Amino acid sequence: MSPVPRPILEAAGLSKIFKGPASVFSKPKIVQAVDRVSLRVWHGETLAIVGESGSGKSTLGRLLLQLLSASEGDVFYEGRNLRQFSTEQMKNLRRDLQIIFQDPFASLNPRMTVEEIVGEPLWLHNIVSGKADRQARVRELLTTVGLPAAFSNRYPHEFSGGQRQRIGIARALASSPKLLLGDEPVSALDVSVQAQVVNLLENLKQQFGLTMIVVAHGLAVIRHMSDRVAVMYLGQIVELASTDDIFDQPLHPYTQALIASAPLLTPGVKRPVPLLQGDMPNPSSMPSGCRFHTRCAYATDECRQVEPPLETVSVNRMVACHRWSELQRDRTSALVPPPSAAFILRRALFEQASQSRLSSSDPTSTLTSTLGTRP
Ligand SMILES: Nc1ncnc2c1ncn2[C@@H]1O[C@H](COP(=O)(O)OP(=O)(O)OP(=O)(O)O)[C@@H](O)[C@H]1O
Ligand code: SF4
Ligand SMILES: [Mg+2]
Repeated sequence: MSPVPRPILEAAGLSKIFKGPASVFSKPKIVQAVDRVSLRVWHGETLAIVGESGSGKSTLGRLLLQLLSASEGDVFYEGRNLRQFSTEQMKNLRRDLQIIFQDPFASLNPRMTVEEIVGEPLWLHNIVSGKADRQARVRELLTTVGLPAAFSNRYPHEFSGGQRQRIGIARALASSPKLLLGDEPVSALDVSVQAQVVNLLENLKQQFGLTMIVVAHGLAVIRHMSDRVAVMYLGQIVELASTDDIFDQPLHPYTQALIASAPLLTPGVKRPVPLLQGDMPNPSSMPSGCRFHTRCAYATDECRQVEPPLETVSVNRMVACHRWSELQRDRTSALVPPPSAAFILRRALFEQASQSRLSSSDPTSTLTSTLGTRP
């Protein structure tokens, strides 16, 4: 009998409001960055959070990791409400939940050596007993992320973007976390290096039994890495489903548009749904009803007036759209794309690229590629 899945993290009605600066002439602007989000992150899974810039992905990730305090709602870790955690328990939580930042150039202190950067969490959490112990552990961590141990005395400016991101990953791994949040972990890197870092994260996840949350724009990356995808729009989750369902049969018009807007690598392949029109509305002045109605080709009066709830539509599948079922019925017409041949081709090209770039000069070449083995 397979084990019953357990949530490692759970958000219940999580909201975050930011207040902008006030001036003599105007009141402070209120930005509802995250609005009543509830979701579970299961042990051992990779959950992707996708959406356009400003949709609230990073804020949600930071709320889940307690790097930001919520305006409303609760976060549960291993079933326990974090509001009830003691200072000591919060310290352990920081050890268990780690983050990899988007910008490997800004996230590493330029005045610290690699040993100091990677070794800092080891001191903070009393994981090592002395300098020699720290040195040995840092060298081990560098090897784990595919960097030569001898690099430990160097400074961040002596590394490429991909190598810096590996240093950031080594630092995140130092405290032996249970969950890693990657906030756009590869988007600042060259496409060729992206495949290597994705590979590395996949391998580390398997090796250490990690749970991962990946915030990303790049849908190809998500397709490879994630088990489930949460699609965010203006602070809310509008669709939550398995990665295959999201890509093969997206139900929400926003998800469909996001997928259709991803770069097509196949000349001549037609896009069967409207691409995203216009910009996302200002989050300090939310549209009424369904927040997507100002850009949705299928909006009705009901959509403009009534907010659709995020409803469960099948096992492990949720969507917030008044018309999902009707639009789904029309799938066989030209409204919604069939399972995307273009996507399958993009995936094959991505795999091909990642394989060919894992040349012998690449330090990750000893790691087994799992990109090609995912279902
Ligand atoms: N510290 C802050 N103060 C005020 N507003 C903020 C703050 N952080 C985020 N916001 C606003 O909250 C909203 C969500 O921001 P967030 O960074 O979570 O989006 P995102 O989806 O991660 O975007 P991106 O893809 O650009 O990183 C945006 O409108 C943003 O301007
Ligand atoms: S509720 Fe209406 S406006 Fe919103 S996504 Fe669905 S069809 Fe479009
Ligand atoms: Mg962000």
